[in-house]
Amino acid sequence: MNCKLILAPMADYTDYPFREICRKFGAQYTFTEMISVDSIIMNNPKIHKMLPQKNEKNIGIQLFGNDPIKFVKAAKELEKLASWIDINAACPVNKVVKKGAGAALLDTPELLANIIYTLKSSVKIPVGVKIRLGFNKTNIEEIIQLIEAAGANYIIIHGRTRNQFYSGKADKTIIKKIKEMVSIPVGASGDVFSQGDVEEYLTTYNADFVLVARGAIGNPWIFLNSEYEPSVEERKKVCLEHLKLSIDFYENETYAVKKFRKILIKYFTGVEGVTEIKRRTSSLHSYEEVNNLLNEIFSKNKV
Ligand SMILES: Cc1cc2nc3c(=O)[nH]c(=O)nc-3n(C[C@H](O)[C@H](O)[C@H](O)COP(=O)(O)O)c2cc1C
Repeated sequence: MNCKLILAPMADYTDYPFREICRKFGAQYTFTEMISVDSIIMNNPKIHKMLPQKNEKNIGIQLFGNDPIKFVKAAKELEKLASWIDINAACPVNKVVKKGAGAALLDTPELLANIIYTLKSSVKIPVGVKIRLGFNKTNIEEIIQLIEAAGANYIIIHGRTRNQFYSGKADKTIIKKIKEMVSIPVGASGDVFSQGDVEEYLTTYNADFVLVARGAIGNPWIFLNSEYEPSVEERKKVCLEHLKLSIDFYENETYAVKKFRKILIKYFTGVEGVTEIKRRTSSLHSYEEVNNLLNEIFSKNKV
């Protein structure tokens, strides 16, 4: 069951420390954040921290771009590091779609199929794709046929269109419809915040596996496969462990703490004191300052 719940790719979040923390709680499969094929080909130094590290196993590298040849060049360089390659045809961000990449590929399904086909003929590891329902309208049924025919090993569906970004509710029923149309594994993404959401995708909509994205930020307990509610002490401990991993990984305390601020808040969602943390995050620059703030806020609550 646990291996059916996978940590989704999330730009600026699912780095090595984040993945390590999720693995500790049971995530057996993870993704890197999306990486542009150009940055890999140009060997941009920034990508090294985005790639799988040390002996990470069961990890997909997610690539974005719109040129099949560039996908192949990039994937060949990464083949030894990745367990599989995932093509991003889901990112809604303007900067990405303006270049014909991410969710823009949903409007050019032949090109998407060409990328899959070319990659499949060039690398030995599995190749899958993450898509949305369509760009501004739902055309997933047309897209899906091409993806399967091109030889994709799996498909992940985020049940929103590009124009919805993250608003409204993800259409979960689409998973069941698509499952009836294709024979490759179908993964579900969208609005996974609890064990109940995972079960619903797996049992009601027949997903083969489920991705958790926003629901895992500050909440690695979601991988425990139960409706576990961590205590404030547990949240504090795991949050600081995550921060420590980040500082060690980036070898720059101020940078790591700044990057971590948005995750810090998420560790205390719904907990009394989170408003105070939010108010003061911009003043945090070191592990000690974070530790002191948490001690101050949570010992105050106990009085
Ligand atoms: C901050 C953030 C960054 C994301 N980055 C990526 C990404 O790099 N690649 C990708 O395929 N999806 C990305 N997504 C989409 C998620 O993987 C997921 O499909 C989406 O958030 C829906 O799942 P959720 O409703 O459970 O969060 C991102 C989502 C968020 C919130």
